Formats: sequence, structure tokens, C-alpha cells
Amino acid sequence: MHRRRIPSSLIWLTLLIAAAVAAAGASGVVLYLQTRHAKRVQADAMTGGDWRRGKTAIVRYQCGSCHVIPGVDGATGQVGPDLTGIGTRVIFAGDLANNPAALTRFILHPQRVRPGSAMPELGVRRDEARSIAAYLYAQ
Ligand code: HEC
Repeated sequence: MHRRRIPSSLIWLTLLIAAAVAAAGASGVVLYLQTRHAKRVQADAMTGGDWRRGKTAIVRYQCGSCHVIPGVDGATGQVGPDLTGIGTRVIFAGDLANNPAALTRFILHPQRVRPGSAMPELGVRRDEARSIAAYLYAQ
């Protein structure tokens, strides 16, 4: 009895399919990274901030003790609204039109912008507020 050989055409077809799947996966990863990078560049330009510093400030001021903030370790707070995708929202903090200046102002002085809001004054600096807004818009 002799062993049946796998036809070489089948081997080639399998390799071709594997290569196509790998190429599709790689281009998906590249597209994801490009999109993420573009969002970050755009968010920094819109706010005049720096999303990286924004992330550091979010950790330092412990915004995540009250808010869910994607990409920030332990930011799973349930006191205030979930900040996931806040950049796509038209209105925030009840009735404020969402734009970089308004978001920065609110983070800087929530009690001045919305007296009596449950969001406390945290003593955030102006450059930090801009960078926090950049981080939130870059998601
Ligand atoms: C003690 C809890 C607490 C902390 C700490 C806190 N927040 Fe808030 N935050 C709130 C509450 C409550 C609201 C809802 C207030 C409102 O709508 O007037 C809010 C609202 C917001 C909103 C508007 C969200 C929306 O969808 O309307 C943003 C943005 C925000 N906070 C960002 C931050 C950032 C950035 C920090 C850290 C610098 C922070 N918060 C720290 C409690 C907190």
C-alpha cells in the first residue's frame, strides 16, 4: 500500500489563502493605527493641547474615580457620566454645546460654567484642561 500524496496545487492554494488572510490582517492593523494617529493629531490641533499629557493629568486628578474613561487604567467610576466617545456628542454637561473651548472651560471650572454641578472644582491648570480635552476627543 502506498501513501497518498497531497496534490501540490492544493498546497499552493492553501499557502495563497494563508498569505491573503495575513495581508488582510496586516492592512487592518495599519488602517487602525493610521486612524488612531489621525484622531490624536486632529484632537491636539483642535484643542491646542497634547493628548499624552492629558492622559497623565487624568490619572493625576483621578477623573477615573468618577468617570469611565477608555484607555485609562482603573477609570471605571460611576459617579459622573461615562466619557466614552464624548467627542461624538453634540451636548454635554446637561445643555452645553460640545466644542473644544466649551469642554476645556468646563474641565477648568465646572462650578463657574454650571454652578451647583456635581462635578467638583479640581484646580486643573489651563494647559492641562486643554490636554485633557485633547485626550477625550482623541478616543
Ligand atoms: C467627584 C466625582 C468627579 C470627579 C473626580 C470628576 N468628575 Fe467629571 N463629572 C462628575 C459629575 C457628577 C458630572 C455630571 C455633572 C453635570 O452634568 O453637571 C461630571 C461631568 C463631567 C463631564 C461632562 C460629561 C457629560 O457627558 O456631560 C466631563 C467632560 C467631565 N466631567 C470630565 C472630568 C474630568 C476631565 C475630570 C478630572 C479632571 C473629572 N471629570 C473629575 C463627577 C466628577
